[in-house]
Amino acid sequence: MAQKYLLEAINAPLVPTDVFYSRKDAIEYVKNTEFPKVFKLRGGAGSSNVKLLHTKADAMKFVNRAFGVGFGSYDKWGNLKEVLRKYRLGKSTSREILKSLRRLIVSTEFANIHGKQKGYMLFQKFIPNNTFDIRIIVIGDRAFAIKRMVRENDFRASGSGFVRYDREEMDERCVQISFDVQKRLNASCVAFDYVFDEDNNPLIVEINYGYAIEVYYPCPGYWDRDLNWHEGKFISVHFIIDDIVNSLQEANKV
Ligand SMILES: Nc1ncnc2c1ncn2[C@@H]1O[C@H](COP(=O)(O)OP(=O)(O)O)[C@@H](O)[C@H]1O
Ligand SMILES: [Mg+2]
Repeated sequence: MAQKYLLEAINAPLVPTDVFYSRKDAIEYVKNTEFPKVFKLRGGAGSSNVKLLHTKADAMKFVNRAFGVGFGSYDKWGNLKEVLRKYRLGKSTSREILKSLRRLIVSTEFANIHGKQKGYMLFQKFIPNNTFDIRIIVIGDRAFAIKRMVRENDFRASGSGFVRYDREEMDERCVQISFDVQKRLNASCVAFDYVFDEDNNPLIVEINYGYAIEVYYPCPGYWDRDLNWHEGKFISVHFIIDDIVNSLQEANKV
C-alpha cells in the first residue's frame, strides 16, 4: 500500500493501483470499474496474498470482508494448495504437507503478531498474458536478474519455483528502470518485479527490501550502472558488505 504512494510520488512505472479506506468508496469503485482486477494484501511473499478478482461479485465479497472480519495475514488454505502443488512437482516433502495441515488449526506466530488485515482494499490493474515476471535486484551500482515462469493455469510467477537465469532471457529495459528508480529512492538494496503490458512495456508490480538469497546463487553475472555485463558467479550479499566497507572507508578519508 505504501509502495503505491511512494512509487507514484517519484513517477515510477507502477501498474495502476487503487486503494480505498472505506466500504463506500470501495463499492463505488467496484461498480464503475472493469474486471478482472488483482487483489493484494499489504504483506505476503511468493504470491501468497495475491488473487485475481474475476467479476464484480467476487470483488464485492472481498470488499465486505475487508471492511468486516478482515483477512488473515496467513492464507492457510492457499498455503496447503501451494504445498500440494510443490509436492506433485517433487519440490516439497510430506513433512511440509503435515506442517501445512497443522497450520489449518494452529495459526503461525507471524499471523498472530500481524493480526487481521482489514480497513483497506487494494486493487491493481490486471496485466494479462504474462507467462513470467522479471525480478531485478539492485545493490549499490550492480543489478542482477531472474525470470520466474507462472504456475500452471495461473497468472502468478513469484514462488512458482520455475526460475530461469540466462542473461538472454532478461529484458534490459527492466535493468535500466530499476537503476533509475533505485537512485530516486536512494535505496542501497531493492528488488523489483516486472510484468509487461499489451505494448510490451515493462511495469512494476511491486518492490521488496529483502529476498531469498539462495535463489540468486546460479545467476551467471550482473550489470553495472552503465549496463556493462560482468560475467561470473557471485554471492549477492557480499555486495552489501562491500558497499558498507567502502562507505566507511570513504567516511574515514574525509
Ligand atoms: N497487476 C498484475 N498483473 C498481472 N500479474 C501480476 C500483477 N501483480 C502481480 N502479478 C503476478 O503475481 C505475482 C505475485 O505478485 P507480487 O505483487 O509480486 O506479490 P508477492 O509479494 O507475493 O511476490 C507476480 O510475480 C506476478 O507474476
Ligand atoms: Mg513479488
